[in-house]
Amino acid sequence: MKIRNFLWICFVGIISCTKPIEKNSLDSFKGVLNNRFYIGTALSNEQLIREDNKILREAANQFNAIVPENCMKSALIHPQKEVYNFTLADRFIEYGLQHDMWMTGHTLIWHSQTPDWFFKDSNGNEVKRDELIHRMKDHITTLVHRYKDFIKGWDVVNEAIEDDGSYRETKFYKIIGPEYINLAFKFAREADPKAELYYNDYSMTLPEKRAGVIRMIRALQRQGIRVDGIGMQGHVNLTSPSIEAFENSIVAYADLGVKVMITEFDISVLPFPNEHLGADINTTVSYKEQLNPYKEKLPDTIQQKFNDRCFDFFKLFLKYDKAITRVTVWGVSDEYSWKNDWPITGRTDYPLLIGRNHKPKEILKQLTTYVANK
Ligand code: XIL
Repeated sequence: MKIRNFLWICFVGIISCTKPIEKNSLDSFKGVLNNRFYIGTALSNEQLIREDNKILREAANQFNAIVPENCMKSALIHPQKEVYNFTLADRFIEYGLQHDMWMTGHTLIWHSQTPDWFFKDSNGNEVKRDELIHRMKDHITTLVHRYKDFIKGWDVVNEAIEDDGSYRETKFYKIIGPEYINLAFKFAREADPKAELYYNDYSMTLPEKRAGVIRMIRALQRQGIRVDGIGMQGHVNLTSPSIEAFENSIVAYADLGVKVMITEFDISVLPFPNEHLGADINTTVSYKEQLNPYKEKLPDTIQQKFNDRCFDFFKLFLKYDKAITRVTVWGVSDEYSWKNDWPITGRTDYPLLIGRNHKPKEILKQLTTYVANK
């Protein structure tokens, strides 16, 4: 209760005296896409620690929605059974309130970046089903309660379905069974009946995976569990997936009667070691010089390919702006992108809307003209 009062006081204080003047004009993504869908970005821990840096100011100029890239994941916010570390997440909320942004929480239940203690009892053995359910409930309730009224939507379950459409055999699945997904949505709904609750995953264009996700959402809906939206992460590259495949999935998910969000959009320009890599953060590939071809600068031809591809995606998102409520890019600017280190550490990628010079890329101009002429 105390923290909620504290955050409200910050909110009122910020709104009443220090609200900065930000661009909402046509030289910003949020200005151009205004009224179509939220355009968001992910804030890294580094950015949240170094308060008031240039990049945070540019994020506020360009975007009207934020999601924490890491600081709300269980390994970071709940590192031990009795220990929650809210410092960066509180800072995230403060920043979002200050700039009047739509805030999404990421992510409540995920097999990655979950601390080991979650699945172990006090003797170091695998935790029993009831206890794991109890821990899930405590974790979800604590986070959702704390940020109620501030976080408007939660990625409740992340990456529960494999590429072939089957359930991913995570510890949650093995110990609790597929009902862990129902329970996660139920606990989150009880903790904040007003928040939007989402299912989020990568490679959401693969037909088998799409069918698996749709099966799962329909099963939840049949049981009276309300899922408000589906997040298509959208970690793509210059050629894959096709725009057509992406479009088919937007349509298929929207047909479930839920909102569709592109939640982690980025376009890698680097060679992909395997076409079907998806975005499983546990995959690692060894470094080779030839897999890091643009260390100094991106050649104009590749830059052009990036612009064209990005434009094609945004035209698609705008075509479906009735179903799509938010497009969030996974990072503020290229030098902060996780793609510089995944799946190969130490590369130089250029996947985002803002370059290393902290200026919006060419795509902003293209979008401005396109939207103005529509
Ligand atoms: C990534 C972060 O960007 C990295 O900083 C971190 O080391 C690993 O996780 N799918 C997700 C995101 O849902 O949480 C992941 O974020 C990228 C893939």
